[in-house]
Amino acid sequence: MNDILPGEVETWQFLEREAHRIFQLYGFAEIRVPVVEKTELFCRSIGETTDIVEKEMYTFDDRSSNSLTLRPEGTAPVMRAFIEHKMHALDPISKLYYLGPMFRYERPQKGRYRQFHQIGAEAIGVDDPMMDAQVLAMLCHYFEAVGIDSVELHVNSLGCRECRPQYREALTGYLENRLQSLCADCQRRYRTNPLRVLDCKVPTCQEATTDAPSVLDLLCSDCDVHFKQVQQHLQKLGISYTINARMVRGLDYYTKTTFEMVTSQLGSQNAVAAGGRYDGLIQDLGGPALPGIGFAMGVERLVLMKGEQGVEAPRPDVFLAALGDAAGDEAFALMHRLQHLGLRAEMAFTGKSLKAQMRRAGKLNARYVVILGEEELASGEAQLRDMDNKDQQPVSLAGIEQALADKCRLC
Ligand code: HAM
Repeated sequence: MNDILPGEVETWQFLEREAHRIFQLYGFAEIRVPVVEKTELFCRSIGETTDIVEKEMYTFDDRSSNSLTLRPEGTAPVMRAFIEHKMHALDPISKLYYLGPMFRYERPQKGRYRQFHQIGAEAIGVDDPMMDAQVLAMLCHYFEAVGIDSVELHVNSLGCRECRPQYREALTGYLENRLQSLCADCQRRYRTNPLRVLDCKVPTCQEATTDAPSVLDLLCSDCDVHFKQVQQHLQKLGISYTINARMVRGLDYYTKTTFEMVTSQLGSQNAVAAGGRYDGLIQDLGGPALPGIGFAMGVERLVLMKGEQGVEAPRPDVFLAALGDAAGDEAFALMHRLQHLGLRAEMAFTGKSLKAQMRRAGKLNARYVVILGEEELASGEAQLRDMDNKDQQPVSLAGIEQALADKCRLC
């Protein structure tokens, strides 16, 4: 679990700001849900036999012996809220997004943490493939907006409750003869959740399953048509993608379209964003039979990808260097007025020498410095120094706020 310090947090704020901006362009509204939920919610949605539920949840009993869990993801809590507040009664289509911390007890490494953050979006109520393409278009638009281009969109279809069992059966039959080559985890997965074997990172498991049957060959006609239409819409929008029939996802609620935004920059943690359709989830959780599709991006991974091109903290517009108590009082009041005019104004607060104050102004990278001493107070004119071109001019104290506001609006 990490602290996010000044210097780094500006990149976070930028990524969050762009999420609000881009998602709202697509008509998504923010929803904020608690970080703890009943454990049962995650078992029922993510699936009892997934890694997340089997070994990664932070689960505890509260003082009334209710089993609670720190949310490992955002989709289930958002669906719980959607059902609880009967949001479908207000509008048959809900487009929601969320930002916040998630918790998984995983082995930490670069791009994988125990408290991490997701920015996610969910579109509820539409099963048309056009909505799949719309959600993917929004995801791609976000990556463009934040300037991350070394990513590739991988898409797949996992079928539905009608055709998935046939695929599961075909895959189990295929794996049966290869059990000896699989790792201990996959031997267990073979029985509990065979699709997960395709996602195993152990090289021997990958080798043993290179020619595994493809889920795409066993889709029912409804799922097949749906997936083809998603692709047609993506092509129409000029969104490039790669079909990856081995992408099975680590959560059980998916149906039909699934996708990941992958990169080669982050080692084995190659998914920067991931998601898919979950047409049975809301009903499974006790809500109406409404379809849904969404995704979540890992903010730490986005930050790593922004890397060197991180976002800088805004520089102060003006630093007030004051010499003597009277000038200090005047500067303090002026700073207050400038801040209310919307300028980033700073001062030294302690009675330091002009040299020390100029050093501090330089360290903060202030755009302008106002120098105010007893002489300046008496003459009614302060010195205004442009820290970029080192130009210094007298400026009337009576008009200084307007002068600074005008200059800073230009800079
Ligand atoms: P997920 O694939 O488990 O899907 O996570 C989505 C993204 O969260 C990953 O692609 C990754 O970027 C980030 N992530 C996951 N675990 C960690 C971790 N331990 N440390 C850092 N980043 C991590 C979901 O969570 C689904 N709820 C997505 C979704 C929304 N599907 C439909 N709607």
